[in-house]
Amino acid sequence: MSLETDYIVIGSGVAGLRASIELARTGARVTVLTKDKANESNTEYAQGGVAVVLSDDDNAELHEEDTLIAGAGLCDTKAVETLVADGTKYIKQLIEWGIEFDREGGKLAFTQEAAHSRRRILHAHGDSTGKEIVRALIARARQEKQIVLMPFANTESLIVADGRCVGVRFLDPILRAPREIFARAVILCTGGAGQLYLHTTNPPVATGDGMAMAYFAGAEMADMEFVQFHPTALNIENAPRFLLSEAMRGEGGILRNKLGERFMGNYDERLELAPRDIVSRSIVAEMRKTGTRNVFLDMTDLSEDFLRERFPKIYETCKFYDLNIAADLLPVSPASHYCMGGVRTDLDGRTTVAGLYAAGEVSCTGVHGANRLASNSLLEGLVFGARSGAAAIADNYELRMTNDESGNPKSEIQNPKSDGISTAVKKRVKRVMWERVGILRDKDSLKRALKEFEQIEKSNLGTSSRNFVTLAKLIATSALWREESRGGHFRTDFPERNDVNFHKHSIQKIDEKISASEKINFYMKKS
Ligand code: FAD
Ligand code: SIN
Repeated sequence: MSLETDYIVIGSGVAGLRASIELARTGARVTVLTKDKANESNTEYAQGGVAVVLSDDDNAELHEEDTLIAGAGLCDTKAVETLVADGTKYIKQLIEWGIEFDREGGKLAFTQEAAHSRRRILHAHGDSTGKEIVRALIARARQEKQIVLMPFANTESLIVADGRCVGVRFLDPILRAPREIFARAVILCTGGAGQLYLHTTNPPVATGDGMAMAYFAGAEMADMEFVQFHPTALNIENAPRFLLSEAMRGEGGILRNKLGERFMGNYDERLELAPRDIVSRSIVAEMRKTGTRNVFLDMTDLSEDFLRERFPKIYETCKFYDLNIAADLLPVSPASHYCMGGVRTDLDGRTTVAGLYAAGEVSCTGVHGANRLASNSLLEGLVFGARSGAAAIADNYELRMTNDESGNPKSEIQNPKSDGISTAVKKRVKRVMWERVGILRDKDSLKRALKEFEQIEKSNLGTSSRNFVTLAKLIATSALWREESRGGHFRTDFPERNDVNFHKHSIQKIDEKISASEKINFYMKKS
């Protein structure tokens, strides 16, 4: 039997929770479908903090400028202005709702991260900012009786009728069967796709499902080639790549090669606080030069008391691996971390499919351009989560229950607690993405990757597996199209930035060839 509600939100990270609260404030019924436990998301693991203009020596122009510089010419300036202006408003609201950011002498404490011209990063419990944001938002959402949170509800496809998104198909965790739910509008907040890569800082839920679902529903995808690799993931054999926050370098951490030499000076005058893409590539170059699989993060100039208090989660996790962050050199290497590209939206989360909105890492609002400034993504989820909720209410679509016309195959139930992607497919795609569509790419590697993905597609794939491979293809296709290097996208065969031919966004749409956006500021009118 089909279900109905007023609004469906898919995902319960910062964007999904904030969107749900906005929707519920009007009295609407909101159903939040989420793949795992309510608090399992990229948001939950965010460490460094959230960037916001609140300190006395900061202002909106400076935060905008830092964001635009990091974005390497591809930011949508209106989106950046919106992020910074609304960001301050929504962070103040979070504080009113009871979030506990760290303070010094009663005043908010700000830390430094790469490519920020001011100390403007708020953090919570030292290095558990995301966990505190999720705690505060779930507590706030629980006050709204109309929000129904459905955990372990893996969504596989969107239902589209007459060009409008009217519902979704998901795997019902209680019935252990595919089910449809219809609503006036659907807000995609499914987060990023770090799990496409062999080495990632992202938790297992981050398989990019929402991007693929939107693509199959006919939505435009923008800038998929821009993937951010975080420079300093803890590299312990056979262990997940636990993040060692950029804030550690912000507090004075130094990168050293296996000979103990500080090497960042050979690559960039900003040293360890150069933008992430530069630090990641410098680490790769250094690893190649010295024939190693990692470099080292050195925090030994800082006292153990300070480090234990400032980075308690990192301190404990490293201890678990027999590392004392105050005394030992910490083995690190880059890992996939964040998707700048995604479902193309306007400033209010509207995608190019009526009734479908997207917010947070799944979306491409134009805020990040070719490279995201550190700690801007929690802010983006908060701002555009709220804005997309408000837009969905304002657009006021009728509820319509109808048959699926999107041509999506029916979902097939596997283990409803898993993400439904076949283990063999996942393993193969992750390796190909890491080896051929990774930090350094070229025409040959990308063509070979695409060939492999086409081969995988020939096997009889379930919906989730098909979504996963499709997303890998979208990234490889746009990486092949962009014959230049910019931000998170580095082509060894085109190492220079080329503003003449590529000062534009890549756009992909089902059944159409990849194309370039007409303008850089690409927000749209209501569809
Ligand atoms: P997420 O928080 O990832 O939430 C996505 C939700 O969608 C989850 O609930 C997931 O279960 C659900 N979902 C996914 N697929 C499906 C499906 N098919 N069906 C149903 N539900 C689904 N950013 C910062 O600004 N500051 C930081 O300090 C910072 N640190 C980070 C540290 C780590 C280790 C990581 C991984 C990321 C960090 N980031 C940081 C990035 C930031 O955390 C994310 O970009 C941001 O939290 C994304 O929020 P979101 O709401 O868009 O998605
Ligand atoms: C970190 O703490 O280094 C992650 C910050 C981010 O991804 O913005």
